[in-house]
Amino acid sequence: MKPQGNTILITGGGSGIGAALAQRLHDAGNTVIVSGRRLDALQAAIAGRPNMHAIVLDIDNAVAIEAFAQEVLSAFPALNVVIHNAGIMRLEPLDTRRDLADAEATITTNLLGPIRLNNALIDHLVAQPDAVIVTVTSGLAFVPMTVASTYCATKAAIHSYTVSLREELKGRVEVIELAPPAVQTGLTPGQENRPGYQPLNEFADEVIALLLAQPTPAEVLVERVKFLRNAEAEHRFDQTVVQLNAFAAQARAAST
Ligand SMILES: NC(=O)c1ccc[n+]([C@@H]2O[C@H](COP(=O)([O-])OP(=O)(O)OC[C@H]3O[C@@H](n4cnc5c(N)ncnc54)[C@H](OP(=O)(O)O)[C@@H]3O)[C@@H](O)[C@H]2O)c1
Repeated sequence: MKPQGNTILITGGGSGIGAALAQRLHDAGNTVIVSGRRLDALQAAIAGRPNMHAIVLDIDNAVAIEAFAQEVLSAFPALNVVIHNAGIMRLEPLDTRRDLADAEATITTNLLGPIRLNNALIDHLVAQPDAVIVTVTSGLAFVPMTVASTYCATKAAIHSYTVSLREELKGRVEVIELAPPAVQTGLTPGQENRPGYQPLNEFADEVIALLLAQPTPAEVLVERVKFLRNAEAEHRFDQTVVQLNAFAAQARAAST
């Protein structure tokens, strides 16, 4: 990904990781469009920043995605980078029959959202110089946190989808996967200050250094996520499942 002069769309750019990356990419000399459901959050993220723009999108709505893509492309015909960052995470019991609303919402937002938005933008992107698609998965795509099973499954699915995109678009669109570790954001209740999770600014600074490196690595992995990303390759998958889930349970207990 070239470091500056891009026109970048970031979903979920009004808070957390999306806003932190949007502002840093803007600081680096890029035009940045942030999207999400909450206009007030988007406006706060772009406040005082010329060349940052906010457009509302509920990525759960397939019809709205098509209209949104047309709106973005007519206002920003130079769009060459999309960062699929919007996501939700819900904790779900697996040992008792339940309403599957959380599981279905997670699949709609985290898996169908990027697939639908890519579909709406792909004809434009393949014709664009320096085109880039960035997906945002998670360390949990590689080792699941079992209390968030559907979430982890959607992130593993997006990892697989990203591998397919990269192969199919080789030589035409650069495809990058960002897999964050546990980061202090509002993704789940109590997570913003949770001990043991990476502070947001530290994480975003580390990501930007990797994302703007030439060439950009195909997987953007900060140091803290390598424990999960490399668990299987290093033949410690089963023990890492146990360690991760013990750590996560302790961290949740300490911050509730
Ligand atoms: N924080 C972590 O520990 C961590 C670790 C690994 C991966 N991630 C991933 O990083 C990404 C960003 O999460 P975050 O930690 O920064 O949490 P966050 O602050 O809650 O950000 C999630 C963003 O997604 C947007 N969003 C959610 N549902 C949406 C919908 N239906 N339509 C449009 N936008 C929607 C939200 O905006 P609105 O509410 O305004 O719509 C919000 O700005 C997610 O994909 C998450 O899975 C996070």
